[in-house]
Amino acid sequence: MSGLSVIIPAAGSGERMGSEIPKPFIKVGDKTILHHTVSRFLNVPGIVQVIIATSEKYIPEIEAMSDSFSKGADLFKVVKGGAERQYSIYNALEYVSGQAHLVAVHDAVRPFIRKELIVECCEVAEKVGGAVLGVPAKDTIKQVDNARMITSTPNRAFLWQAQTPQIFRKDLLLKAYQSALEDEYIGTDDASLVERIGGKIQMVEGDRENLKITYPVDLKIAELIFGTDQ
Ligand code: CTP
Ligand code: MG
Repeated sequence: MSGLSVIIPAAGSGERMGSEIPKPFIKVGDKTILHHTVSRFLNVPGIVQVIIATSEKYIPEIEAMSDSFSKGADLFKVVKGGAERQYSIYNALEYVSGQAHLVAVHDAVRPFIRKELIVECCEVAEKVGGAVLGVPAKDTIKQVDNARMITSTPNRAFLWQAQTPQIFRKDLLLKAYQSALEDEYIGTDDASLVERIGGKIQMVEGDRENLKITYPVDLKIAELIFGTDQ
C-alpha cells in the first residue's frame, strides 16, 4: 500500500461537552481519548506519518504520548491548531510527508475506528480519489427555513451521515484546501472542500460504534463500549 499520512485534529475547545479538559485529553480507562484514537492507526499498512494539531498548552502532553508508543517518535509531528477545525488541518497540511500518496483526516474524538475500515477507505481513495466513512441516516432529515418551518424532506434512502476517516489522494486534498482558503470557504468536513472543486469521493459503509464524542451522553456511551471492548 502507498504511503499514508494521518492528520488528527485535536485542537477544539469542546463547547458542547462543557468539560474543563478538552475532549481529546479526557481519560477513558487509563488512557486519553486521543491515545486510544492514535493507537488505532499505528498498525495500518503504509503509514508514514501522524500529524496532530493541538493548542499550545497540550503540545508537551502529546510529545510525551508519542514517546510512549513503540513506533518511534519520528512518525509523529505536533502542530498548533487554529480557530476552526479547517484551520487546524491547514496547519497540518504544511507538514505532510513527501512519502505520502494518501492523506487521511480523522477526528481525535473518534476512538472506536476499526483498522479494517481505515484500510478499506485507503483502497477506495486510491481508486476513486476520495473516500468518506459513513452510515446510512437513521433519522428522517428535515430541511427548514429561518423560522424553522419545514421546507422539504429529502429521501432518506440517499442520505448518509459522514464520519471520519476521510481519505484522499494527497494532491486532491491539498488543492481543495488551497481553493477553500482563497475563496474563504469554510466547510463542516474535508470532503465538502473536495466536492466544491469537483473531486470524486465515494462513501464507504462503516459502523455506528465509530461515534464522535461530542456531548456528555457520548462520553457515557464511550465508557460503556470501552468497558465491553477491553
Ligand atoms: N478541532 C480542531 N480545531 C478546532 C476545532 C475542532 O482540531 N478549531 C478538532 C476537535 O478537537 C475534534 C475534531 O476537530 O477532535 C472534531 O470537532 P468537534 O467534535 O466539533 O470538537 P470541538 O470543536 O472541540 O467541540 P465543539 O464543537 O462542541 O466545541
Ligand atoms: Mg467543533
